[in-house]
Amino acid sequence: MTPSTEDAPEGQMKLSADRMMELAELASRLIVERCERLPTEPAWRGGTRAELEPLMREPPPEEGRPAEHVLERAAREILPVAGRTDHPRFFAFVPSSPTWPSVLADYMAAGHNVFQGTWLGASGPSQLEVVVIDWFRDWIGYPDSAGGLFTSGGSAASLDAFVAAREAAGAPDRASVYMSDQSHTALSRAATIVGVRPERVRKVPTDDRYRLDMDALVTMVAEDRAAGLSPIAVCGNAGATNTGAVDPLDAMADFCEREGLWLHVDAAYGGFAVLADEGKRLFVGIERADSIAMDAHKWLFQPFETGCLMVKDIRRLESAFSVRPEYLQDTEWGRDHPNFGDRGLQLSRSFRALKVWMSIQTFGMKAFRSAVARGIELAARAEEWIRDSENLEIANPASLSVVCFRFNPAGRDLGSTELEKLNDRIQSRVINTGTAMMSSTRLRGVYSLRLCILNHTTSWEDVRSTLEAIERFGLDEVSGGD
Ligand SMILES: Cc1ncc(COP(=O)(O)O)c(C=O)c1O
Repeated sequence: MTPSTEDAPEGQMKLSADRMMELAELASRLIVERCERLPTEPAWRGGTRAELEPLMREPPPEEGRPAEHVLERAAREILPVAGRTDHPRFFAFVPSSPTWPSVLADYMAAGHNVFQGTWLGASGPSQLEVVVIDWFRDWIGYPDSAGGLFTSGGSAASLDAFVAAREAAGAPDRASVYMSDQSHTALSRAATIVGVRPERVRKVPTDDRYRLDMDALVTMVAEDRAAGLSPIAVCGNAGATNTGAVDPLDAMADFCEREGLWLHVDAAYGGFAVLADEGKRLFVGIERADSIAMDAHKWLFQPFETGCLMVKDIRRLESAFSVRPEYLQDTEWGRDHPNFGDRGLQLSRSFRALKVWMSIQTFGMKAFRSAVARGIELAARAEEWIRDSENLEIANPASLSVVCFRFNPAGRDLGSTELEKLNDRIQSRVINTGTAMMSSTRLRGVYSLRLCILNHTTSWEDVRSTLEAIERFGLDEVSGGD
């Protein structure tokens, strides 16, 4: 093994071209082998602190070690001890299954070390971000005035949106915002960060399918105004994490227009379903929202940290975030040359648009459309299978690509506490046997299993075998087996 610092003068960490190539080839081989093995491996691996400390705890070495050893250690001891969110049977939380070109794009962007904060700093990458954001604009049905930026994810996108909403409302003292009781906690956290008191982040009740109740929203806003609060924004879900619920976006847009309120749609999970007919049908009105958060690292098959915020009138975002320090005066190239650092929280930012661009260039929109639609189809098929089973029951029908259900065998009158414990044991067995990765949730306080089917490599066989295993583990549990 050759040390990583071969031939480098003291303090320089540059490698020869041959070494760079050797190491890049090894890294690529380790990743590709991992991707090939993935379907035959468990969808999750984890470890406790006590297990992992002895493997990794050490002071930083004073002298460098052979780079091959370092890469192999990362690939064998550290990276695999994690959820494999791109495994075809990873159905927990919100999966993420990046295309290979999008992974390479992250590598290429890092290799070029693009500073994507200003046009001067990265003209080509900025032009490409404009182009990809315009693709998203067209998919949503936003007007030409719309624009946006790539963010680390949905949390950052919502935070940026709330800053714009607050400024558009004149930054009132007693600001309040409204979201359904199903909205992601990223939104309430973002609202409090921008200065909305936690008690003024108002949770609107939902209907029997977990969609925001319009009457309740209207009443809450009226009561809050009467009590001297200043409502600034209403948030709609285009795919709530828990259930996939889509709020009545068109009615919410009517209301927000009447009341002069900013409508923000959290489409972090569901947004790219707009590429499928079912998504288009469910999202009627989304194009009327003032802002929309959509995570390409979820349903557009990109690696993590490919979030996005779209704003209907991009000037409102820019006026909330633009800064003009002396030391950046050279970066002002005028309106046609946006500085993406002026559209949100980050000045130093990576070149995220390249991931989307490279994967769409490689596979084409047709492939993306059908991959998105397949998630919806598989969830509907899972719902059908569950309904046909005597041992499973639907807790909430499939919405987008999420379906919630329980094991509750026919003919046995199990109490709610017993049912919860039973389903909890089933979920542990699904994970610990390496069958699949599946998370649980609570719907109005009642324990539920949940599948989120979002991976472009997932087949019906992956879904069906998981449901069969759930049924089998459940029957085994009630008959006292192990
Ligand atoms: C609906 C929804 N909103 C917001 C978020 C937060 O997004 P991120 O984790 O990308 O910050 C998530 C994450 O799963 C989500 O599903």
